[in-house]
Amino acid sequence: LRVAVLFGGRSPEHDVSILSAINVVNALDRDRYDVLPIYVTKEGRWLLMARQTELSTAATVGDAPELTLLPGGRGRLLAIPANAAPYEVPPINILFPVLHGMHGEDGSVQGLAAVARVPLAGCGILGSATAIDKDIAKRLLKEAGLPVAKAVCIEQGAEPPFADVVKKLGLPLFIKPARQGSSVGVSKVADADSYAAALAEGFRHDRKLLAEEFITGREIEFSVLEHADGSLFVSLPGEIVPAETHGFYSYEAKYIDENGAALRVPAQLPTEIGEELRRTATNAFKALGCDGMARVDFFLTPDMCFVVNELNTIPGFTNISMYAKAMAASGVSYAEVLDRLIERALS
Ligand code: DAL
Ligand code: MG
Repeated sequence: LRVAVLFGGRSPEHDVSILSAINVVNALDRDRYDVLPIYVTKEGRWLLMARQTELSTAATVGDAPELTLLPGGRGRLLAIPANAAPYEVPPINILFPVLHGMHGEDGSVQGLAAVARVPLAGCGILGSATAIDKDIAKRLLKEAGLPVAKAVCIEQGAEPPFADVVKKLGLPLFIKPARQGSSVGVSKVADADSYAAALAEGFRHDRKLLAEEFITGREIEFSVLEHADGSLFVSLPGEIVPAETHGFYSYEAKYIDENGAALRVPAQLPTEIGEELRRTATNAFKALGCDGMARVDFFLTPDMCFVVNELNTIPGFTNISMYAKAMAASGVSYAEVLDRLIERALS
């Protein structure tokens, strides 16, 4: 089976995606899969990497052949290197995007698989598109009766006065780009000056932002994986414990500072709360129209109230990422997660 792993990508999570893809490519069983790592540059060029290439240096590889991906008809997707004729190229059997953020986790690449009628590992178009947009996701979660943090949607050119936002959300509050991951462009705001700076920073990443109330609480996450028979496997809960020095689970705390956060799996929770969060994780997955896979993130307050923070349909697969760790703690190894995703894609 020829599995094309797409990684890198045009979003600010480019480097995170490379770290994720290194793990995915290394964990895919070489006896079962013929892996085709395809590196998407920050400019959006698609390059064919040799599997044995050190993928971490992908960003500096200059001589990799550039590809054109073309639907080949009859359920075939062709990755055609410049100078090769389409009939010389063996078709891709599975598209496995390990891209985070826009142009990869947002339904666009998923659409390519659908148009070419090629099996896709992971979440499809609808769930990808709803989950990537924190504003749309929140509305759907609310509509399904699930608890979410209070928020105000801010469109560029129509920024509400600081006082109005504070009246609704209190202080401190968060400003987040609606469609970014890994806390890119997220700021914590405590006063009018930092509000202005946070809007400016947010708008560097998206035309739509969310101001969100600050929830003091523990960050609890579940990995959800759909099996080939359509049943949902929900992992044990994992907990992210950010270091005090970072104030919140920022990009730095996640990927730059080795001691930025600790992962606890399984999270220690009262049984009923654990069960309720788990049920809610399933409901949130369904509410957004997800399939295949997602990580569902919660905040749990000291008085055991919770909100669904967000869903990531291509969660991080880096060494410090929760998805695979929570699955492993639940008895499903890294390689088995990938096998199950591929099995479901083919079903
Ligand atoms: N967006 C990052 C990769 C995550 O949620 O793990
Ligand atoms: Mg996240």
